[in-house]
Parts: sequence; structure tokens; C-alpha cells
Amino acid sequence: MSDSTVYRASTTAPVNIAVIKYWGKRDTALNLPTNSSLSVTLSQKSLKTHTTASCSSSYSGPDSLLLNGEPEDIQSSKRTQACLQLLRRFRKDVEAKDSSLPKLTDMPLKLVSINNFPTAAGLASSAAGFAALVRAIANLYELPHSPTQLSLIARQGSGSACRSLMGGYVAWRAGSSKDGQDSIAEEIAPVSHWPEMRALILVVSADKKGVASTAGMQTTVETSTLFKARAEEIVPKRMALMEEAIQAKDFPKFAETTMKDSNSFHACCLDSWPPIHYLNDVSRAAMNAVETINRRAGELVAAYTFDAGPNAVIYYEEKNEKLVAGVFRYVLQAVTGWDGEYGSNIPLNDRGGLEA
Ligand code: DP6
Repeated sequence: MSDSTVYRASTTAPVNIAVIKYWGKRDTALNLPTNSSLSVTLSQKSLKTHTTASCSSSYSGPDSLLLNGEPEDIQSSKRTQACLQLLRRFRKDVEAKDSSLPKLTDMPLKLVSINNFPTAAGLASSAAGFAALVRAIANLYELPHSPTQLSLIARQGSGSACRSLMGGYVAWRAGSSKDGQDSIAEEIAPVSHWPEMRALILVVSADKKGVASTAGMQTTVETSTLFKARAEEIVPKRMALMEEAIQAKDFPKFAETTMKDSNSFHACCLDSWPPIHYLNDVSRAAMNAVETINRRAGELVAAYTFDAGPNAVIYYEEKNEKLVAGVFRYVLQAVTGWDGEYGSNIPLNDRGGLEA
């Protein structure tokens, strides 16, 4: 008689928005970056991926993934396959130690994921997506791995995903080994260290981005004349500055470093051939709005940053809520006549990481 038991585990993973950007791979197969990066984890109350992983010997067919109700082709996705293979290998180790455990590795997996935000619009959907996928299967397989150990697996799905396995302020150390065992994410400060931090997301466009990050960063690595200095000299110095700023809760230093790094990343994109344009006129109006806010305040109280798309993320401290959100709305409407939706103010992840 065949056993029809369904084994199941669910989890959620947050979005993270980098303040020091990952852009460039030194090894495309293992997804190893050219430089370290650092991000802030946003609240799961507003932005998250929810994933359920289940397996059963009564399931037929290959492993499958339903993303926002649509089937995804995971058989031909090398990155998803790399994650699934690693997770199965670790489960095999667990099963080898205890023969009474069910042989979950022999069963097909069914994965069901839902994002509560636009997919692939430069809102770090692949980060939350792969982090949730890896964590859900790790829970299903009852793996003993820490978030940092799981970050090694999630990194192979999507680089930025390794930073979504933790809450608060997270560094992804590029590492230097060939096998990537030292290319891991670690939480440098919990959300409780700087709970006044806020993020405002301006959804300029919910369309899919023009140039996907994987392809865009390879074009930059191969053609940008600015890129080598960014990866080898500029980012290492900025990582140190950013960590100091976060430890000291020095917002002006945090803001200056964040904006400079976003600009440096987009300058490298423009310097690539063919050039890559992620920012549009509304993005540039948002940058001007932040500059206006900071000029009025007489110090840096707001910082913009943009990923591989036109959407702006504005970081500020809670005490400057009125100044930032108010001026932002007024200036942007006056400059562009734009009346699109504003993302709500999204505090940092207040759960210190993932839900089980
Ligand atoms: C601009 O993590 O999406 O958001 O590893 O190829 O999947 P792959 O790239 P991905 O790139 C993110 C780039 C970025 C900057 C960042 O999040 O650090």
C-alpha cells in the first residue's frame, strides 16, 4: 500500500533594499559577486513572499512551482535546480543519520508562492522569492541550518536573496574562495538597534523591468570603464563607512553613503554598452525632491536609492516623517504632475527575520 501522507511547511520572507549595491558576478555558475553589499530588511507587514512547500509520494510528475497562481518553468531554471539539489543533499544527510525518518528526498515537491507586491519591477521580488523558497523547503526537510548557512543556498537562486534570510541590517560578504563557501550573508545589527529607521517606497512603475539584473550586470562587468574602480576600490571603502554609520546610528553618514552608492551603480549602468537606463523622469524628480528636503532641513534627513528599475526607496528617521512624506508628495506632484500611488511608509522588519 502506498503512503499518501502530505508533508508541508510554510514561511514568509521579507524584501530587502540594498544601500550598498550588488552589481556584478565573478562566477556566474555559483553566483558569486564582484563586491560585498549591504541592505536593510523591510517590514513583512507590507512586502513579503509567502511560500508553502509540500511533498508526498502520492504526487506525480516533476517538482513544480506556482507563482501568484501561474505555473513557473522550474525544470529549465538552473538556479532553482541548484537550490533544490543542495536542499535535497542536506536532507539526505539528515535521513542517513536517522533511518526512521520519511524519505522526503524521493518525493516530488510542490511549491506555491505569493508576492503581495509587483513581481520583477525592481522591488526585489527575486530576493524575497528565493529566500522564502529555500526557507520553506529547509523547514519541510527539518534541516538544522542557520540563516547564514541557508544564505549560501539562497545566493545560488538569486544573489540578493541571501540577504532576505535575516532581519535588520544585513551584509553579504563577497568572500574570496573559489567554491563560494565564504560568500555569505550576516546580520550586522538587528532592527531593534535602529528602530527609528523608515522606508518609503514610491512605485513609479509596476511593469516588468526592461533589462533583467542578471543580464544587466554582466553587460556592466564586460563593458563599463567605471566598473573596476567601483568593485575594487569604491565599494570596499563604502562598506566600512556604512557599517560605521549603522553602528553609530549616524543618519547623515548613512544617507550620503546610500545616495552615492545608488548613483555610482546607475552611473556604471549608463557607462555600459549598450547603455542601461533604469531611472526615468519620475525617478529623477524623486532625487530632486530628496535634495530639496535635505536643503530645507539644513542636513541630510532623507536618502534615495534605486535598484534595477525606476521605483524609488526613500530612507529617513521616524522623527522626520512629516518633513519627508509631506514635502515629497508636494514637490513631486508640482514637478511632474504625477498622481500615481505612493507606497505607504514601511518600517523595517519588526519581526527580526522570517516567520517559521
Ligand atoms: C540592483 O539579486 O536580482 O537589486 O543574482 O542575478 O539574481 P541575480 O541578481 P539580483 O540583483 C540585484 C541587484 C540590485 C542590487 C542589490 O540588491 O544589491
